[in-house]
Amino acid sequence: MYGGWRVAMRRLTHPTKDAALTCVAILSARRWIAGPSRRYDRRIVFHRPTACESRSMPRLSALARDLKPEGAFTVLARARALKAEGKEIVELEIGDSPFPSTPHAKAAGIRAIEENRTGYGPSLGLPELRAAAARQLREEFGLPVSAENLVVGSGAKPFEQYFAEALLEPGDGVLLFGPQFPTYIPNLQRRGARAVIAPLRAENQFRPRAEDVRRFLVNDPRPRAIFLNSPHNPTGGVATDEDLAEIADVVRGTDLMVFSDEPYCHMIWQGRHHSILAQPGMMDHVVAAYTFSKSYSMSGWRIGFAAAHPDIVAAMGKLINTTASCAPPFVQVAATAALERDATTRDDYMTRFRIKVELLADGLAGIEGLSVVKPVGTFYVFPDARAICNRLGLTSHGLALFLMEAADERFGVACLGGECFGPEGAGFLRFSCAEPDEQITKALAFLPRAFSRVDAAGAFGKAYPELAQKAPYDL
Ligand SMILES: Cc1ncc(COP(=O)(O)O)c(C=O)c1O
Repeated sequence: MYGGWRVAMRRLTHPTKDAALTCVAILSARRWIAGPSRRYDRRIVFHRPTACESRSMPRLSALARDLKPEGAFTVLARARALKAEGKEIVELEIGDSPFPSTPHAKAAGIRAIEENRTGYGPSLGLPELRAAAARQLREEFGLPVSAENLVVGSGAKPFEQYFAEALLEPGDGVLLFGPQFPTYIPNLQRRGARAVIAPLRAENQFRPRAEDVRRFLVNDPRPRAIFLNSPHNPTGGVATDEDLAEIADVVRGTDLMVFSDEPYCHMIWQGRHHSILAQPGMMDHVVAAYTFSKSYSMSGWRIGFAAAHPDIVAAMGKLINTTASCAPPFVQVAATAALERDATTRDDYMTRFRIKVELLADGLAGIEGLSVVKPVGTFYVFPDARAICNRLGLTSHGLALFLMEAADERFGVACLGGECFGPEGAGFLRFSCAEPDEQITKALAFLPRAFSRVDAAGAFGKAYPELAQKAPYDL
């Protein structure tokens, strides 16, 4: 007989609620073994600080209090904790690569450290990286850029903040297509800008519509920017050249600025990648952001770049100067080598990703209750799981946590509820291809069994009422 309390405290964000309702969650886990069988009793209590508790806490800014972090990292932390306890988890929650960083990048980065390229560098980036990045954008995507249009940063994500700081004023309206990448809204909040959401529809293959941009321009009191993301995370939708031309027609001649987030520019499974920056006249309107995280499996190096009008580039240089100072120069040396010498490995990785995406998308499409729009780009699959959620009485976030935590004692699948990408994602699940093919196959075999565990799901919903549906999803 063995018994004991383990109490872990962690910040959880309830993805179905407004960021202001971010709570401190206490995860109490009671675990005991009675004879040969194990039982788990985990309880998540959403808890607001009492007056007494808050007196002893530092007073945070409203921004810091309300900021909603990326849900994938929260689920990742939980998945790793479960693994450390001995549970087998297939991790399909995080958008990361299962492949090593490309070889010339690794070798050049190591060499650069050995050669002591470990001091500061120019805030806009090393000239050789800016030149190599401009060459790639010109040759691969037909963008009218040279080194003066390029600025280097620590990944694509920081450019959301630099865009907001360089171009937005408090109160400006910014159109997002939802479901959307979770850090867009926090980076608008930093500037006090207003997010306006237009839904992407499965019936339209999750492609952005010029009509929504037109309506935003007419109806919003202060329309100032739109965020485009193609190929799109989480849906895998890809804007066609025609879609982008139509949007550019609406933007041209207005005061609108466009943040074109293109981290998946090499993960295109039909046709080829198009950037709105290639459309006539868009250099005055567009900041296009790229990263080495996906194409070259370099997410942990934290390196990316953006292309824009030289005045915007100069402004971003000041923003980098006054925050990060610069992206680490030895990482930039590695990134330059990736651009110049790793295209073959990159293309090989993309072929292997395509096979994974097909395995995952076809496997999910074959599971009763899931409906899949096959992704045209990215390494995500975003099935509609409303029918299963309704049967089990769980939200899609609840369903995702059920698959990881409670559908089986020894095995789980980590994925994300669509609400992690805003309310437009509710009823969907997002799976990434971040595991070896055998693990993906194992996860696919597990899902129908997990979805049939109605009683266990009911008990899970009772234990965590915030994960139970208040009303079924409309079908
Ligand atoms: C749409 C989108 N934008 C930005 C990023 C961030 O990229 P990075 O980690 O290279 O900064 C990601 C990463 O998953 C993404 O999916």
